[in-house]
This record gives sequence, structure tokens and C-alpha cells, in this order.
Amino acid sequence: MSAGHMSHVPVLLAEVLEALSPRAGAHYIDGTFGGGGYARAILQAANCKVLGIDRDPDAVARGAKLAANYNGRLSVLEGNFSEMDQLFAQTGERKSDGVVLDLGVSSFQFDQAERGFSFREDGPLDMRMSKSGPSAADIVNTADEKTLTKIIGDLGEERFARRVARAIVAARPLARTRELAEVVEKALGPAAARQPIHPATRTFQALRIHVNDELGELERGLTAAERVLKTGGRLAVVAFHSLEDRIVKRFLSERSSAAPRASRHAPDSAPKHTATFHLLSSRPRMPGDAEIQHNPRARSARLRAAERTAAAA
Ligand SMILES: C[S@@+](CC[C@H](N)C(=O)[O-])C[C@H]1O[C@@H](n2cnc3c(N)ncnc32)[C@H](O)[C@@H]1O
Repeated sequence: MSAGHMSHVPVLLAEVLEALSPRAGAHYIDGTFGGGGYARAILQAANCKVLGIDRDPDAVARGAKLAANYNGRLSVLEGNFSEMDQLFAQTGERKSDGVVLDLGVSSFQFDQAERGFSFREDGPLDMRMSKSGPSAADIVNTADEKTLTKIIGDLGEERFARRVARAIVAARPLARTRELAEVVEKALGPAAARQPIHPATRTFQALRIHVNDELGELERGLTAAERVLKTGGRLAVVAFHSLEDRIVKRFLSERSSAAPRASRHAPDSAPKHTATFHLLSSRPRMPGDAEIQHNPRARSARLRAAERTAAAA
């Protein structure tokens, strides 16, 4: 797809807006600005401000153009959402009314073969959202078989991770996405080729998550949101696979557990844990059939949302 035709359809947009409930005068953080789909909708919903953050310089350049239409209500900064509190401080404010994270890659990134995220089109084995640091090619060409097995098994949930890792080591150096896809396809054999998802899907997911330290970023991003949100501020996170959703679910259930835990060694001392969030609903929101039909990328999306309490982070 040529860059001129690309766009990104925001996932669970109505549900995210409902969770954030944008208000006039409030200041929100969109930690995964991407194509600006959420940011635009938030700015349209109320006379508020948005700080957009993205680690991809292309997304930030798009954001800078969009910001020109919003009279100072939209600013966009390059960086990781794990640093959202420091980035937000650059806007001159300390506490935000709402944070939204829409995890993973955007269609802008995925559909551009040169970024190396897709096995369907040939491109360099890159996969770096920030366009800096070690690329997917660096990992597949230098990591030992044991490390590759662990990455592909843990982050791709690939049952035959060892077989794939061994095939990669035997075939390297690998430079292109198609080359890697073919190596994986061959290693997994005809049974995998008959499955509904492409045999290379899990290996590509694993490498992408590893290259961008996506799970580490998510863990740190959630605690950064906890620090930056004011009392009553809302957190909304859209996850696309079970590894991400598990982290969000665990964080929110831990932080929203109301029962204060007194210390076993000093039962009369002050409670050790006070809930910093309360859940807006106990179950995640998922897209309906109509949204999935219109936007297949939404298929696996799960939104979890919570409101910040007054307890210290
Ligand atoms: C799914 S897209 C967001 C799409 C956006 N909600 C929209 O409606 O256009 C995810 C974006 O977040 C960015 N991103 C992913 N992880 C990030 C992180 N840890 N810090 C900053 N940006 C990140 C990616 O570069 C990508 O542009």
C-alpha cells in the first residue's frame, strides 16, 4: 500500500471515549498517538487539551501537522509512554485527567513494507517503532538458538519455537521479511500452512514485542499513568493479545483491590496497600460484530478502564 493511501481506523473508539468522558478544561494524555484517531475524537468531544506521545518519529511528524489545526489544544511529543509523566511536565502541568493507551503498531507502520513489520510484503527485517536501537535483523542474526527459542516461545506463544529457532540459525544471515517468513513456513511444515493464521504470525509477533520491549514498556507505562493521573482521572488501555491483556488485568486488579493489607508482623500498623484505582467495569469491553466486520484489526481488542483514587501512587 502506498503511503498516500494509508490510514488507521481507531479501535473501540466509542468505548474509549465513554471511559475517558472528556470534559472542557481537562488535559488528557494519548500515550500511543499513532494516526491521532483517539486524540482527534477527544478534542472533538470537549473543549479540552491533549498531549499525544509516540516513539515513532513519523507519527510525531503527522501529529505536528494536525496540531496546527487545534490552536494550542493539541501538542505531540516524541518519546516512550513509560516516561509520560516527564513528558507531560513539559506541557507545564503535573497531573492529567485521563490517559489512553492503544497498544501495538498502527496501520501506518504495519502497511509500510520498509518498516519490516509484515511478512506479507517484502521489506527489511526492521520492526523498530522508534527507528533506533537493535532491529529484528540484529536479533535473528546474532542471538543464540536458546535465546531465540525463548523469545519465540514466550512472546509468540509458538509451540514449536525450538524448531523455528534452529531453522533461523541454520538459514542466517537473514535480511528481509519474506526470507524469514519462508524459513518459518518451511520449519513448521504443511500442517501449519493449513491453519487459518499464517505460520509466521507468531514468530513475527514475538520479534516485534522483543525489539520494542513492548511488555516492559507496558508495565512501566501503567505505573507512570498511576503517577500522572489526578484523583478522578481515568485510565483506558486497549490490548490486542493475551500477553498484554494479562499485564493490564493483573495491574488493575492489584491496584484496585480494596482490602487493605495490614502487615503480618505488625498487625496494628497502618494498612500497607490502599487502592489507587477503581475499575469502571470488572470485565473488558470488546468490539461487536459490526466493528470487527468493518475493521478486522479490532478482532482481538480488549479495553480495560479504571478511575484513579486519591491514594498515593
Ligand atoms: C495502535 S497505534 C495507535 C493508534 C491511535 N490510537 C489512532 O487512533 O490513530 C499504536 C501507536 O503507539 C506507538 N507506541 C507503541 N508503543 C509505544 C510506547 N511504548 N511509547 C510510545 N509510543 C508507542 C506506536 O508507534 C504506534 O504509533
